[in-house]
Amino acid sequence: MTSLTIARPDDWHLHLRDGAMMRAVLPHTAQHFARAIIMPNLVPPVVTGDQARAYRDRVLAALPDGLAFEPLMTLYLTEDTDPDDVAAAHASGLIKAVKLYPAGATTNSASGVANFDIVRATLERMAEIGLPLCVHGEVTDADIDIFDREAVFIDRVLDPIRRATPGLRVVMEHITTSNAVDYARAQDDSLGATITTHHLVINRNHILAGGIKPHYYCLPVAKREEHRLALRAAATSGEARFFLGTDSAPHTDANKLLPCGCAGCFTAPNTMAILAQVFEQDAALDRLEAFTSRNGPAFYGLPVNSDTITLTKSAPDYPAHIDTEDGPVTVFDPGFDLEWSVR
Ligand code: NCD
Ligand code: ZN
Repeated sequence: MTSLTIARPDDWHLHLRDGAMMRAVLPHTAQHFARAIIMPNLVPPVVTGDQARAYRDRVLAALPDGLAFEPLMTLYLTEDTDPDDVAAAHASGLIKAVKLYPAGATTNSASGVANFDIVRATLERMAEIGLPLCVHGEVTDADIDIFDREAVFIDRVLDPIRRATPGLRVVMEHITTSNAVDYARAQDDSLGATITTHHLVINRNHILAGGIKPHYYCLPVAKREEHRLALRAAATSGEARFFLGTDSAPHTDANKLLPCGCAGCFTAPNTMAILAQVFEQDAALDRLEAFTSRNGPAFYGLPVNSDTITLTKSAPDYPAHIDTEDGPVTVFDPGFDLEWSVR
């Protein structure tokens, strides 16, 4: 096969940032994707409906002429979140999900939730109105090994929340383990799981063997090869519960290449090229559209995009770094030559 036309994809987990960084990265997403779930971990975070409306307006104002893109906004769940504000933001169509960061789990998560009992009223209201909870699934306890934090979160936090809140729609975001794949497969259709592009490509050796590679460091951190293979099998299966959330998370090189560098891989420019190759390698090109363009809208109750993109077998043209007013941002390097481009 040398050409593949699919419904235009969406990205169900994206960091656009704000200001100059947003202006630099947004076109890279908007050139391929019709919609994206926009993460609210700005500084300060997007907590209220008013903040989400203002952020959406800034995203739309930063969109270059000629590119159509719909930002799907989210609210950052805190222990002070007002369930009525969440419900109003949902009823007006402004927000499509609420994001749960365990306090301290990742970049800009200091305002996240430490005591889950305090957010119970909000979760119950969300279950009532059908508003999904997007979950960063890692415990933050210092005594839990960083490679075990997702599996422990499923047992200690996620499963208890779901049992205590029947009907709550939950997205397990950026899953990185076979434990998460197995858990997702055992649930009903109120649970979805996103998978990033980079977690289909790298395992923890890519980060740590033969010299430390800061640009491969993200959270949740990539795990053993057996987990990567489980993610590949899930993503390429076509199963409705698995869909693309790139977690494209730009940081300047200056902030990545530090003694304490930031977590995040910037994959927006080459995600579709990488995915086409991954699916082709796994003889699953016919299921790429399910993963990138159909399963996500079905979970969120939104229409599949009516326009299409065409992937052709030719080396893609994208930069190794993009320039921003804050400094260069390195594009994720899959470590192999890419063979597909979006026409
Ligand atoms: C994200 C970021 O930089 O905002 N980083 C990352 O490694 N994925 C935060 C997140 O989604 O965990
Ligand atoms: Zn993220």
